[in-house]
Amino acid sequence: MVIAGLRRLEYRGYDSAGVAVQTRGADGQWLLATDKRAGKLVNLEKSLAETPLAAGTTGIGHTRWATHGGPTDANAHPHLDDHRKVAVVHNGIIENFAKLRADLADRGHTLRSETDTEVVAHLLAEAYDGDLAGAMRAVCRRLDGAFTLVAVHADAPGTVVGARRNSPLVVGVGDGENFLASDVAAFIAHTREAIELGQDQVVELRPDGVTVTNFDGTPAEVREYHVDWDASAAEKGGYDYFMLKEIAEQPKAVADTLLGRIGTDGRLTLDELRIPDQVLREVDKVVIVACGTAFHAGMIAKYAIEHWTRIPCEVEVASEFRYRDPILDDRTLVVAISQSGETMDTLMALRHAREQGAKVLAICNTNGSTIPRESDAVLYTHAGPEVAVASTKAFLTQLVACYLVALYLGQVRGTKWGDEITSVIRELGDAPRQVEQVLGTMEPVRALARSLADARSVLFLGRHVGYPVALEGALKLKELAYMHAEGFAAGELKHGPIALIEEGLPVVVVVPSPRGRSILHDKIVSNIQEIRARGARTIVIAEEGDEAVVPYADHLIRIPATPTLLQPLVSTVPLQVFACELATAKGHEVDQPRNLAKSVTVE
Ligand code: M6R
Repeated sequence: MVIAGLRRLEYRGYDSAGVAVQTRGADGQWLLATDKRAGKLVNLEKSLAETPLAAGTTGIGHTRWATHGGPTDANAHPHLDDHRKVAVVHNGIIENFAKLRADLADRGHTLRSETDTEVVAHLLAEAYDGDLAGAMRAVCRRLDGAFTLVAVHADAPGTVVGARRNSPLVVGVGDGENFLASDVAAFIAHTREAIELGQDQVVELRPDGVTVTNFDGTPAEVREYHVDWDASAAEKGGYDYFMLKEIAEQPKAVADTLLGRIGTDGRLTLDELRIPDQVLREVDKVVIVACGTAFHAGMIAKYAIEHWTRIPCEVEVASEFRYRDPILDDRTLVVAISQSGETMDTLMALRHAREQGAKVLAICNTNGSTIPRESDAVLYTHAGPEVAVASTKAFLTQLVACYLVALYLGQVRGTKWGDEITSVIRELGDAPRQVEQVLGTMEPVRALARSLADARSVLFLGRHVGYPVALEGALKLKELAYMHAEGFAAGELKHGPIALIEEGLPVVVVVPSPRGRSILHDKIVSNIQEIRARGARTIVIAEEGDEAVVPYADHLIRIPATPTLLQPLVSTVPLQVFACELATAKGHEVDQPRNLAKSVTVE
């Protein structure tokens, strides 16, 4: 059961894996049986198949994304104390571990790994006096940093204790069995009833009950919730990779994110937006914070927000935001975008924003996660679980949510007429069909990707909202195919990067619609000619009926006609397919690219 749970969580980290199970020895005494292996979960599974652990009904497991100490067997979790009484697994970073480690060594403990985690096993062993939850609370009070900890003790059979500070941990409530995991996906095959743990809380789990306390020992308030998807949503469903499945799910994900958000009068009703309209009317600046793909969604949102509402909008990578002392006050609306809801950089940015008095709206895909819980309001994307490390359907649904927020601001502030909003909503409503249409024409894109498997570098160009799309295309290729890929604003090329162009270099160009803002279109057609004249092999993504690009496109990828601002919903899809296919052709693990993890819960 633990291994099956780890399989569903492996996307969060796959440097090593391990398990510990409470079992009885030949003498009838309880003990901990453990195994742990560097590398992917399959290495541990192989080892367990060769040398199975004794049977048990209480166990813990871990898949690791290395922070302190390389991905070796010794550094894999669980970590044990000197007497093998306590086993601990940990996500996060214990910042004061060096001092704790030195003190433990002075007290005669032998530490066997380079990890920060191992100190917790030794500290728990010292603190244990028959009450594992009490020992965990005492130890947590001594730790600095961010952590989820889960521990078992050989002398406390049938009990698992967990703790969390700034790192996810959820409880699954079963019938005669209970679960703890950093993501409900681990136990969704057994129960869809979950308990959200708060900050600085310790949970004691027994087969027949769950007790949650604060680090100071007082009883904690918790929120129970029902998970609205089932195990099949977290399966590959016949696809070779989760990424392929998630790309294919995009039409439904976009439709689900729009569902129920338009009233019968055609007006937007974002009921879950708990920020009063009056506060939104007074907002004088929007600041978007996010990381990676979510940051690219934020860049696109800026175009929509400023165009539709005339409110100045800044976008910033969350990891930089709080360190530059940004100007924020109670009239600033901060929008934090995150698929997982657990990205530490984004969480820290929103905490800083709230401390300065700003209101924070989260756009998030994961119910019960930390970022929405700590925000003033949340707009959930309904993409369903995204398992592949490379974000796809989450990105498209983040775009939809951003458009809805922009339109809603326009609606409450009166900067957009009702019929204008209805017209954009109608166009958004057509997006699922258009994405489906793009997905149906991807075979030439796949063939092209396979033919470029040996390319050394690929550049991506775009203008306006096509620029973040170019960045997103390059990010996908970097993370999946491990090749040099860069996105540029097409107009910026002549200021330096054009020197990179050499004979045969593949350059993907995202072309804006020739209708509407035709000046943008004309400029990019000139940019295509400039790079082609210098030997680039041009791969042009252009709207159906755009004939002006045809003479300059070595490869032409057609997308349906959309309004300029909504084009990313369709132009991103070929780039996802391209990166996925190219990485597959290179023989890479598409769902679990090297060095990465799905939820980045360290800063
Ligand atoms: O869970 P989040 O949306 O906060 O994650 C942010 C980034 O880590 C994430 O989008 C990352 O860039 C993806 N692997 C890109 O495909």
